[in-house]
Amino acid sequence: MKLEKGDVAVVTGAASGIGFALAERFAKAGMHVVAADVEPGALDDAVTRLAKHDGEVIGVHTDVSKAEQVQALANSTVERFGGVHVVCNNAGVVSRSDPWLGPIEAWEWVVGVNLWGVIYGVRAFMPHMAIGGRGHIVNTASMAGLFPGLNPIYDATKHAVVAITENLYHDMRATNLNVGVSVLCPGWVRTALVDSERNWTGEGEVPPVGAALSAVEPHLRRALDEGLTPAAVADLVATCIEEDRFWVLTHPAWMPLASERWDSITEGVNPEPPKQVPGMPPRSQLMEEVLTALAAPPEG
Ligand SMILES: NC(=O)c1ccc[n+]([C@@H]2O[C@H](COP(=O)([O-])OP(=O)(O)OC[C@H]3O[C@@H](n4cnc5c(N)ncnc54)[C@H](O)[C@@H]3O)[C@@H](O)[C@H]2O)c1
Repeated sequence: MKLEKGDVAVVTGAASGIGFALAERFAKAGMHVVAADVEPGALDDAVTRLAKHDGEVIGVHTDVSKAEQVQALANSTVERFGGVHVVCNNAGVVSRSDPWLGPIEAWEWVVGVNLWGVIYGVRAFMPHMAIGGRGHIVNTASMAGLFPGLNPIYDATKHAVVAITENLYHDMRATNLNVGVSVLCPGWVRTALVDSERNWTGEGEVPPVGAALSAVEPHLRRALDEGLTPAAVADLVATCIEEDRFWVLTHPAWMPLASERWDSITEGVNPEPPKQVPGMPPRSQLMEEVLTALAAPPEG
């Protein structure tokens, strides 16, 4: 779908990182932008920065893990602009809690934002696009949606987002609705993702950082700091929308990790974790650091 001046784009998680870059990319194309985010101050700042471009910009405070808030986002978009052409279900979080020993609320929070947020977004916006006769939905998954081994909670949600989006693609084709569908699967991108817990909306207190996660965290921060710029990701997303490409793969060098995993499934071989994820230390070094962290007495 050609991105036209005056088209309307909705981006969730638009106050930071990839979401902000997507919103900025659409605003630079002269599109109207609805920026949705749960972090109020950051959302106001983002709207101010986005308003420098030609199209109109509105900010809508939205927690994507709440169905009624995502529906309200769709309603206010249609009320304000009369329709919607591009929707990026992009908001996402990662928890540093221990997935097996930490509180279940960490799972509920990440699943709420990363998975339910995408489901609510598709259900709230797709009918408007179908009626409008022209649209494109981009769901943000991750390379963690193509092979497991990074973080069980996060990986689970991103695998589900890939599966949902692929099904949505088939359904939009089968029904001849003029709604394109893409899934964004980035590797490391320079964003504030590791600090997701700043927007904790789960039950109770933010869970403590798990020992294994605390060992991995410095490497993760470095990998993200050295990652792709969000603007480069946004440019690729815009190209994929215009060329009707389903897979938005920002890090082709990572793809062997996915294909090796599928080869081992085909051969019926028991799973091996990736020996080395690009940008991270070798698995053996990481495991040593994790074991040292696990052996250390808990703080306090
Ligand atoms: N940064 C990476 O390396 C990377 C890699 C693969 C996938 N991703 C995915 O990219 C997406 C964007 O993340 P990012 O890296 O730009 O991180 P980020 O933290 O910079 O941006 C995420 C945005 O989502 C918002 N958000 C969090 N919870 C929300 C909620 N409940 N409702 C609405 N908004 C909420 C945050 O306020 C923030 O503005 C996520 O889905 C993430 O999983 C990121």
